[in-house]
Amino acid sequence: MAFEDILVERKGAVGVVTLNRPKALNALCTPLIDELGQALAELEADEAIRCIVLTGSEKAFAAGADIKEMKEKSYADVLDEDFITGDWEVVAHCRKPTIAAVAGFALGGGCEVAMMCDMILAAETARFGQPEIKLGTIPGAGGTQRLTRSVGKSLAMYLCLSGDMIDAETALRAGLVAKVLPAEGFLDEVMKVAETIASYSLPVLRTCKEAVNRAYETTLAEGVLFERRTFHGTFALEDRKEGMEAFAEKRKPNFKHR
Ligand code: HXC
Repeated sequence: MAFEDILVERKGAVGVVTLNRPKALNALCTPLIDELGQALAELEADEAIRCIVLTGSEKAFAAGADIKEMKEKSYADVLDEDFITGDWEVVAHCRKPTIAAVAGFALGGGCEVAMMCDMILAAETARFGQPEIKLGTIPGAGGTQRLTRSVGKSLAMYLCLSGDMIDAETALRAGLVAKVLPAEGFLDEVMKVAETIASYSLPVLRTCKEAVNRAYETTLAEGVLFERRTFHGTFALEDRKEGMEAFAEKRKPNFKHR
């Protein structure tokens, strides 16, 4: 299906979604978010895809929600529409592994969408921030919540209350991003990570990310029990047997995703 505000490519077992409103620095307007939801649903349903990369341009991953679209809305409007978090959460609800590949600005809703992915890989040009305070509002898609869980209270408060940005190295030190990569050849390096992930068993990838995500939702004892039972559950899979047999036989596993 053809989209206007995003591009979707399939590269082997990796689906790549590129936010594509370069003139507006990929501001996240409602049509773009609708298309993103459709694209992710298609990639989720595509059996050949085992990892999804979400990226933007060299200048901006996304500079936030579309301020020009938002500015005329009333309180009743945003309440009625549940603006806009309900639709955006599709990214967080993806069951396949997701990588946000961030070069340039990831601000406001852009930073929030990146944080909805399973991990953020940043180009050295990346800039992260929650500048909503400058517009007389606050983050509305997880910026006060996911960011605080990710980097801790002090830096989250600093970003949300000052509206200041941090660079990729600071984001790395704070734990917001998993890796910083050179700007040149950035997407090629991201693809190597995505291809590695996509080479593993899809049912195991799904349950592994569910187990990590439990850490945000439950106590340590419950989380560890969830993890152990999920680990036990992998013993019902052909791929777990194949993975261990392949190790013992000193060969590459041939996962069937069963
Ligand atoms: C709409 C935007 C935009 C945005 C940039 N543009 N950000 N349009 N919504 N969030 C548009 C500009 O209006 C301009 O269009 C073009 O993109 C290029 O932007 P410039 O400002 O000329 O570029 P530059 O000088 O390089 O500055 C880059 C920037 C700045 C620092 C990123 O654009 C900026 O501060 N943008 C707003 C960032 C922000 O406040 N984000 C949070 C949004 S609120 P024209 O047509 O004028 O050339 C939010 C809430 C989420 O995200 C809540 C979830 C529901």
